[in-house]
Amino acid sequence: MMKNKKEIDQVINKFNGKNGALIPLLQEVQALESYLSKETMRYISEKTGIKIAQIYGVATFYTMFRLKPQGKHIIRVCQGTACHVSGANQILKEIRDELKLDGEEDTTKDGRFTLMEVACLGCCSLAPVIMVNDETHGKLTPEKIPNILKKYD
Ligand code: FES
Repeated sequence: MMKNKKEIDQVINKFNGKNGALIPLLQEVQALESYLSKETMRYISEKTGIKIAQIYGVATFYTMFRLKPQGKHIIRVCQGTACHVSGANQILKEIRDELKLDGEEDTTKDGRFTLMEVACLGCCSLAPVIMVNDETHGKLTPEKIPNILKKYD
């Protein structure tokens, strides 16, 4: 269910009819809702007259768009070169094991965490690095991961 219908209407009104507006429109709506649900995409289609297939096509093409709810805390695991050579894959594996994420899952069942792999986080001297929300954790070893995750409920 859409939580921010009024704000979504304002975003739609701001962009409606403008060429090339679909991507920024979807970005702003996602910022409000944290992801693009089918209901939200259908609503945008009805309000703007843009075909639902086009909206869905854009939302699934660009990796910046999420079609599933996001966890309360976002963990970004750096996969840049400096982190990669310093053991980023072991860090990633430890986090996935700790959060019991199977296969392609990126969000814990309790909605506490969403895990993302990202390119350089801009602090390579601290490699390997993760960010949890806006907090940077560097010089990591797999052993440090459980205590870091415990801080976020
Ligand atoms: S490569 Fe990881 S922070 Fe730069």
